[in-house]
Amino acid sequence: MAEKTGGATDAGIEAPQLDIYTLGEGAVERRRLDRITEIFRPTTLALLDRVGVRPGMACLDVGCGTGGVAFDLARRVGPEGRVVGLDMDDLRIEEGRREAVAEAVPNVEFRLADIRTVSDPAPEFDLVYSRLLLDNVAHPARALSTMCGMLKPDGKLLAECTDYSGWYCYPGLAAFDRAVELVSEERRRTGGFPDIGARLPVLFLDAGLTDVRMHIFQHMELAGVFKAWMLSTLTPDRAKWIATLGIADEVEIEQVLAEVTRHIENPGTTMGTPRFVQCWGSKPKPPNDGSQRGG
Ligand SMILES: C[S@@+](CC[C@H](N)C(=O)[O-])C[C@H]1O[C@@H](n2cnc3c(N)ncnc32)[C@H](O)[C@@H]1O
Repeated sequence: MAEKTGGATDAGIEAPQLDIYTLGEGAVERRRLDRITEIFRPTTLALLDRVGVRPGMACLDVGCGTGGVAFDLARRVGPEGRVVGLDMDDLRIEEGRREAVAEAVPNVEFRLADIRTVSDPAPEFDLVYSRLLLDNVAHPARALSTMCGMLKPDGKLLAECTDYSGWYCYPGLAAFDRAVELVSEERRRTGGFPDIGARLPVLFLDAGLTDVRMHIFQHMELAGVFKAWMLSTLTPDRAKWIATLGIADEVEIEQVLAEVTRHIENPGTTMGTPRFVQCWGSKPKPPNDGSQRGG
């Protein structure tokens, strides 16, 4: 039996109080996800290049949201390949299906499913991808194991997740640090992991994956969409949860948001995203037991 690397699958990571996805649904969330798709497209495409997505592959995007990456994968695998976008939000799945028809992309399909409750996963994919999904589930090791079960032997597993531990601005601002604390604590208490990015390589090893590699990036800027990233993380939905769980009251949340907004509007400050970790690895081929050897 493979020895556990320790840390990633210990009680700490598997002991959530709740298991709720708190980032909302509907049109507002659609706009937020569209923005994620647009601004993270170059780094995601670079990851797909690095790992190698070839025509003819069967790919799965878990927690596909509006399907942006699923459509990019569909273009890359071409007509001989196929892509499945899986999400537990029926609105996202319906939008994906409509877009596939409107854009005439026949090799992408959208499945409504919750990765936490997929049982008996079949190894039907050459590549399983997910972005900002393992950050938001209470049992990431379990979700990863299900995703591995959906991979064919020698298939590739890819995940992109955040790591809030290195999130900073310059000059430093107490309200910004407090905002990081609030969103981190909200994520922890609702069953998520704000620093899951840093743990991904160990989770991948514990899932039995080999050739595990990682790449880290962080966008910081003086002006632009990345500078305001905190505002798209501390969303109204999340603010409600922060107040409901008693992490901070509404007055404090408003003050924090107002101070962070002023810092963003100041052209002399830099701010940006948390660290993003891209991690990938391969599912080992089953050992050759010799039974198929010729005589
Ligand atoms: C932060 S969004 C990221 C969407 C997309 N991957 C992207 O990067 O643009 C997370 C997505 O995962 C979905 N999701 C969350 N928990 C899930 C679960 N347990 N099973 C399937 N989908 C899930 C949500 O509905 C949402 O669409």
